[in-house]
Amino acid sequence: MCARPGGPERRMLSARLGRGGEPALKIAGVGQGYVGLVTSVGAAEWGNEVVGVEIDPQRLLALRAGRSPIFEPGLEELVAGHAATGRLSFSSDTGEAVAGARIVFVAVATTDSAGAWDFATMRRCLTGVVPLMDDDSVLVIRSTCPPQLVKEIVPLVDAIRSNADRAPIALAFNPEFTREGNALHDFLEPDRVILGIASDPSGLGEAALRQFYATVEAPILVMGAADAMLSKLASNLYLATKISFANELAALCDVHGSRIERVVEGMSYDPRIGGSFLRAGIGFGGSCLPHQVTMTVADAETLGIDVPLLAAVDSINARQRTTFVDRLAALTGGLEGRRIALLGLTFKPHTDDLRAAPGLDIARDLLSRDAVVVAYDPMETARQRAAGLIDDLLIADTAIDALTGADAVGLITEWPEFVALPWADLARVVRGQVVVDGRNALDPEVMAAAGFTYSAFGRGTQTAQDGSAAASVPVGSPINVRSALAFSES
Ligand code: UGA
Repeated sequence: MCARPGGPERRMLSARLGRGGEPALKIAGVGQGYVGLVTSVGAAEWGNEVVGVEIDPQRLLALRAGRSPIFEPGLEELVAGHAATGRLSFSSDTGEAVAGARIVFVAVATTDSAGAWDFATMRRCLTGVVPLMDDDSVLVIRSTCPPQLVKEIVPLVDAIRSNADRAPIALAFNPEFTREGNALHDFLEPDRVILGIASDPSGLGEAALRQFYATVEAPILVMGAADAMLSKLASNLYLATKISFANELAALCDVHGSRIERVVEGMSYDPRIGGSFLRAGIGFGGSCLPHQVTMTVADAETLGIDVPLLAAVDSINARQRTTFVDRLAALTGGLEGRRIALLGLTFKPHTDDLRAAPGLDIARDLLSRDAVVVAYDPMETARQRAAGLIDDLLIADTAIDALTGADAVGLITEWPEFVALPWADLARVVRGQVVVDGRNALDPEVMAAAGFTYSAFGRGTQTAQDGSAAASVPVGSPINVRSALAFSES
């Protein structure tokens, strides 16, 4: 488990209280999902007075009890801490929350459960919130919006105000750049703040946002609304492109018996390239990268624009999952009736999020090829949800339970506890000494010494891309897996 009470976030809290005399702002946060709650908590952390609006009764109940309905390291502690300071409260009453607020952040879903754009919630939300806002307040959209939604929101907000006989208000798009698992840090210490100002009749909107971000040391970039949201999308599209590039490179490394960590290290000293987000494996998952790539490709098709690079990013990402299953099939001599242990289910460590998680696709593919699949993830919530999503998936209570009697092991998520498993002892627990490492997280030397046949992505295992050739024990000089991983993290 990865809850870290009393960890770095506690130190951050005490360091941030009372931020050098800046007058506090009254803030309303509409939507207390992932993005909204982090924004509310961060705003309270900076000394502002925040009311978070949440319409889901269960979520509201949890928040009012000082609990976080979503898992994010450090978040629950700050929800409870700021409830105690009185700077953060939660309500289902939009009018009450918005009255007197200088800034109203809106962070509601812009996609449906399948990851396709869906603007209905945003339209409904704006229709309810905008007429209630004070004339000198600024409406700030935090949700990720494609350009077509930006173009819709700008006149919609004006029309709602004028229909309600209210003066126009300032409107800004302020995209978030927070990673799950690091969201509080990314909010409180951003690399950049982007303010896409759509309208600001009196200049009060930008002034309020500059005050809000006064203690941030990063550059504050002011630009047009569509530019701001495209910057957000472009950042994720580029990160996805880097990962698919690394995966393409990994296939080349496998054919040539090279090690991708070495190759990336060699590239990384060129400041034009860098070394982050180039870790090869089963590809990117989560609620952001996969659907934003897919939807951008779909939008481009609708607009009659050719985006072959992004289409390739998408198909390489899908291919990685299939390659992983093909490798398990090749190394076990066929999957039918084989017991495959999957370590990890979440789309990355330090989250319980299963949205577009590669592990789910892989489990389904293995089951469709008649394997028996038993999975373990350190997050109990993820285990429970996965069991509900995939009928025949067996869920183990511990990693050792999952591994016991397995014909092969697939590493899906690089949780530190999997890297630290006593692999030499485990070779006696599993039935087949085969490990396919979907995250290039394990030490090939350790695995070889423990007697495993180890296959990874671009680590000199010389496995053909389609998995047809059996993987060999890694060749070449030893590599330091920890430093290689540090390289690939952003
Ligand atoms: C992503 C972006 O990184 C954030 O900057 C952005 O704010 C966020 O989306 C968003 O739009 O809200 P997140 O979805 O939390 O953040 O996940 P990432 O850390 O980007 O990881 C995405 C996936 O890529 C994971 O499955 C991860 O395992 C995979 N990955 C990452 C790789 O396969 N290789 C790498 O080198 C890095």
